Amino acid sequence: MSKPFLLVQLSDPHIGATWADGDPVAGLAAAVESVRRLPDDPDAVLISGDLADNAADGEYELVRELLEQLDAPTYVLPGNHDDRDAIRRHFNVPGTIGTPVQYAVDLGPLRLLVLDSTRPGEDRGELDADRLAWLDAELAAAPDHMTLLAMHHPPISTGIVAWDELGLPVADRRALGEVLRRHPQVRRLVAGHVHRAIAAELAGRAVLTVPSTYVQARLDFNSVEIELVDDPPGFAVHALLDGELASHVQPVS
Ligand SMILES: [Fe+2]
Ligand SMILES: [Fe+2]
Repeated sequence: MSKPFLLVQLSDPHIGATWADGDPVAGLAAAVESVRRLPDDPDAVLISGDLADNAADGEYELVRELLEQLDAPTYVLPGNHDDRDAIRRHFNVPGTIGTPVQYAVDLGPLRLLVLDSTRPGEDRGELDADRLAWLDAELAAAPDHMTLLAMHHPPISTGIVAWDELGLPVADRRALGEVLRRHPQVRRLVAGHVHRAIAAELAGRAVLTVPSTYVQARLDFNSVEIELVDDPPGFAVHALLDGELASHVQPVS
């Protein structure tokens, strides 16, 4: 029996945060321990942004130390709480100082494309023409390689006003959708930022957001401000077997 290729996705640990109940370090440690207790080891790990709450060096060092307990290559991308250059100092990501953190990785059966959806200094996201041109060219270079596209801000409307005001502009989401239409090998888009598990779609491709390892967002379509709730933290396990990709959302336990 063949074994699936496993990409674990953790999100939004917010190390250093004090704005919710609970300890973000303990939250990430518990998520890492949950991954370690899975019967199958991950082949790779993705952290989909908001690694550190204040972008402090000590916060990134803590993230790195905790992730080292997972014996798998780890890939990171920035969220609105992160600093691109601090991420470059603490993690091995390509690119030059001040530029968006985006790169492609050949994981074997799966190609991981990391896109930077941040707008430095703001919580809202953006996908400008340069970033989308980079994405278009990267996808054109490997048209037959099944691809998972990762970013921090999900390219969807959640239906929750407070979150959608902090999301990606509709025009940027549409522009991303136009790029995707040229590249059918992109089979899934994954994101964080909204601190909830949401399944949606863009240009016919599945979009999944995953819970935070720190604190969750309340499901209230009338909320005009971000509301938090004591729902269980979680993470995703993307399993690829024989060309089929199944994304499991697993509570931390
Ligand atoms: Fe976050
Ligand atoms: Fe965020």
